[in-house]
Amino acid sequence: MNILHISDLHFGPRHWEGDDLILLEKLNSYQADIVINTGDSTTDGLEDEYAAAGQFLTGLTCKNVISIIGNHDKRNMRSHELFQKYIDSTDIITLPETVKTSKKHLFLNREITKVRENFTDINFIKSIVIDGKSILLINIDSNELYNDNGFVEKAVLDVVSEVINQATYDLPLLLTHYSILGTDDCPLKNSSILIDFVQKHKIEYVFCGHTHELELMRTNDLYLDHTFFLLPQNTVGLVNLSNGKTC
Ligand SMILES: [Fe+2]
Repeated sequence: MNILHISDLHFGPRHWEGDDLILLEKLNSYQADIVINTGDSTTDGLEDEYAAAGQFLTGLTCKNVISIIGNHDKRNMRSHELFQKYIDSTDIITLPETVKTSKKHLFLNREITKVRENFTDINFIKSIVIDGKSILLINIDSNELYNDNGFVEKAVLDVVSEVINQATYDLPLLLTHYSILGTDDCPLKNSSILIDFVQKHKIEYVFCGHTHELELMRTNDLYLDHTFFLLPQNTVGLVNLSNGKTC
């Protein structure tokens, strides 16, 4: 199974100055089974940036393109609506407003903001079959609205865990914009609960963006007897999971 991993395209002022058509041609030449786009598709979460990013992503010929949201994409109160309009309209896993949460701006005041949907996180799960194997793609929104530091809501992880527990799959992959292991000027502040989540569901591969650095990290938890790989991405990379154990 070939996975093409792209990230941080930053349509808008931070987008590269190269030729997008040539880039698309190159990306399509890999004939990937899955394309994972780990966020920051825009620079400031503006509608024209979302539209440009959406147009670029529709140029990918792979039928399994999975995009998630990044901190740059959450810089305006309509970010979550724009993401669903231009990038991916997948059903989002939400929380009732009555649930006690600690993530800032997780719910917006509809009367003030006039947004249609007031839950600002983009969390979802998708299941796809590649070569007879069921791949569960788990997207956890690690971004906080209006903030370049990351934060994960525990109540969201609990709800997503319930969905995972109901699912049957061969290989779970976690997609999240912030690195859960590396450090950064703008880090995921409470990464430990996401690491716990990875270990709880025995996730072996974690795809992330944000740092603009290409790395491969492997961690072993001797107490829990669990190993996982973290695959941060700068712009483009390829991963081969031929037997679920190599990358
Ligand atoms: Fe980022």
